[in-house]
Amino acid sequence: MQDVSGSTSPTTIPVSLRTLLGLIGPTFRRHWLRLLGGFIALVVVDFLQLIIPRFVKTAVDSLTAQTASQPQLLQLSTMILLCALMVAILRFSWRYLIIGFSRILEQKLRDRFFEHLLRMDQPFFERWTIGDLMAHNSNDMATVQMACGMGLVATVDALVMSTAALGFMMAISVKLTLIALLPMPVLIICTRVLSGRLHHRFNLVQEQFSLLTEFARATLVSVRLIKAYTLERLQENRFSELGEKYVRLNLKVATVQGLLFPVATLVGNVGMLLLLYFGGILVIKGDITIGSFVAFVSYLYMLIWPMMAVGWVANIFQRGVTSLRRINRVLTQEPIVVQPPFQPLPKKEQYTYTCQKLSFQYSEATHRALDGIDLTIGPGLVGMTGRTGSGKSTLCKILLRMYPVKDSMLFFQGVDVNDLSQEDIRNNIAYVGQEPVVFADTIAANISFGRPEATMDEIQAAAKAAAIDTDIAQFSGGYKAVIGERGVKLSGGQRQRLALARALLCDRPLLIIDDALSAIDVETEQQVLQGILAKMEGKSVLLISHRVNVLRHADRIVLLDAGKIVDQGQHQDLLANPFYRIMVEKQRNDA
Ligand SMILES: Nc1ncnc2c1ncn2[C@@H]1O[C@H](COP(=O)(O)OP(=O)(O)O)[C@@H](O)[C@H]1O
Ligand SMILES: [Mg+2]
Repeated sequence: MQDVSGSTSPTTIPVSLRTLLGLIGPTFRRHWLRLLGGFIALVVVDFLQLIIPRFVKTAVDSLTAQTASQPQLLQLSTMILLCALMVAILRFSWRYLIIGFSRILEQKLRDRFFEHLLRMDQPFFERWTIGDLMAHNSNDMATVQMACGMGLVATVDALVMSTAALGFMMAISVKLTLIALLPMPVLIICTRVLSGRLHHRFNLVQEQFSLLTEFARATLVSVRLIKAYTLERLQENRFSELGEKYVRLNLKVATVQGLLFPVATLVGNVGMLLLLYFGGILVIKGDITIGSFVAFVSYLYMLIWPMMAVGWVANIFQRGVTSLRRINRVLTQEPIVVQPPFQPLPKKEQYTYTCQKLSFQYSEATHRALDGIDLTIGPGLVGMTGRTGSGKSTLCKILLRMYPVKDSMLFFQGVDVNDLSQEDIRNNIAYVGQEPVVFADTIAANISFGRPEATMDEIQAAAKAAAIDTDIAQFSGGYKAVIGERGVKLSGGQRQRLALARALLCDRPLLIIDDALSAIDVETEQQVLQGILAKMEGKSVLLISHRVNVLRHADRIVLLDAGKIVDQGQHQDLLANPFYRIMVEKQRNDA
C-alpha cells in the first residue's frame, strides 16, 4: 500500500541522547581494544610527566643540601631522559590509536550517511538541498570525529592529570595547594565562555567559506555563460566582497583565539604569584624544602591545561551531540516510494507497462502534472510529443518510480507497482534523460556504466547502434579517451548519443528516451533511430521527441497536453490534429 501524503518535512523531532549514541556505539564496541590501548598509553604519559618533577625535586634538594654527587646527578638526568623518551613514544601511540579510532568512526558514519542518501528518492532531494547534505557530510562528521577523538582524550587526560597533580601538590602542602588553586575557577569560566564564543564565530566563518566556495563553483561551472554575457567584472566584485567578509569573520575568530591563551597564562601567572609569595614564606620557615617548592611550581603549570580542558571539552561534546542530531535527522528519513513487502515480478516474454487513469501532482504544485492518463507501453515503439510542460518528463519519472503513485494507477507486468520493489522495475528499464549525464571518465567507462562487466565488443556494438562509433574513432585514444569534466569535449549531440549507447548496452526490455535525440543532427537522426529499432526489436520503447521524422516510425504516437492525452494514433491519423499538423508543417518548412 502506498501513503502518498506521507512526506515528512525536515523539521526537528526530539531524539533521545541514547538514540544518538546508538549511531556511534557499535564502532566503539568493535574497536574497544584499540581504545583501551590508547587510553593506557595516555595515562602512562600523564604518569611519566608527573614523575619528572619528582626527579627534579630530588636533584634540587641534594644540590641545596650539598650532598649531590656527579654519579647521582647523571643517574637522575638519565632517568629524566628515559621518561621523556617514553613520553614521546607513548604520545605517538595514543594519538595513533585514539585519533585513528575517531577517523574510523567518522568514516563509518560517513559511509552510512552516503549509503542512506543513495537509497533516497526524488522527493527527498527536493526537500533537502545538496548544500545542506554536503555540510552534514563534512562539518558535522568532523565535529563528531573531534568529540570522539580529542574530546575524549582531553577528558581522560584532564581527569588523570588534575587528580594526580593535585594529589602530588597536596602531598607537598595542602595549604599551599589551596592557595595556588584560587585563580583556577576563573580559568574554567573564561575558557568555557571564550570557547563557546569561538565556536559560534567559527561557524560563521565556515558558513561564509561555504558561500565563497559555492560561488566559485557556480561561476566556474557556468563560465561560458558568464563570458557570453560579459559578467566577469560583476562576478569578480561579488567574489571579492564574499572574500572580504570571510577575512573579517576570520579576524573575529582570531580575536577570541588570541584572548584564550593570554587569559590562561595570565591566570596561571597569578597562581604563580600567590605560590611564590606564600610558598616562599613556607620555604623560609622551613615547612617545605626548596625541591618541593620547585616541583610544586611544575605541578601548578600542569594543572593549567586540565582546567582549560574542562571548559573546552564541554563545548566539544555539546557540538558533537548537535551534529549527531543533524545527521540522525537525515538518517531517519525514509523514501516514500518504497514500502515492502513486495511481490515477485512475474517473468514474461514481453513486458508491458500500463497506466490506468494515472494522475500525479507534485507536492508543492497547485495543479496536476498528469491527469487521467490511460496508456499501455509495449511491445513496440510508442512515440510521445507535446508542448513543454505538458508532463512528458514527469511521466518518465513516474515510470521509473522516482515519485510515489497511488494504488491501482500503474501496473508493471499487470502487477500494481506499489506491490513491486523499485529495483525489480528499474532493472527492466533503460532510460536516457533530457539532459544526458556524462562522467569525467573514459568513453568506454561512460558507455558501460550500467553494465560494468560488458566486453569491449559489446561496448562497440552499442556505440555503433547509437551512431557514435565514428565520432569515437576520431578522438585520440578512441574508447580510452577521457571525457573532460561535464563532458566539455563532446558536443550536445555526441553526449546524447553516448547516453543512448549506455542505455542500449544495458539491453533491458523497456527503453525510455526523454527528448534525448534533440541535439542530434538530421542526417544522423535516422541512423540512430534504425539502431534503436534494431536493438529493441520485440521489446518496448517509449520515445519522446519533437521531431516528426522520428515520431512517424512509431507504432502509435501519443499527444500530451496539460497532463492529459489529447490525441493518439499513427502519423497519418494525427495529421487531423491541429497541434500535430502545425508541427509537421513547420518542420517541413525548416527542412
Ligand atoms: N520537481 C517538480 N516539482 C514541481 N513541479 C514540477 C517539477 N517538475 C516539473 N514540474 C511541473 O510539472 C509540469 C510538467 O513538467 P514536465 O513533466 O517537465 O513537462 P515536459 O517534460 O512535458 O516539458 C510543469 O508544469 C512543470 O512546471
Ligand atoms: Mg521534459
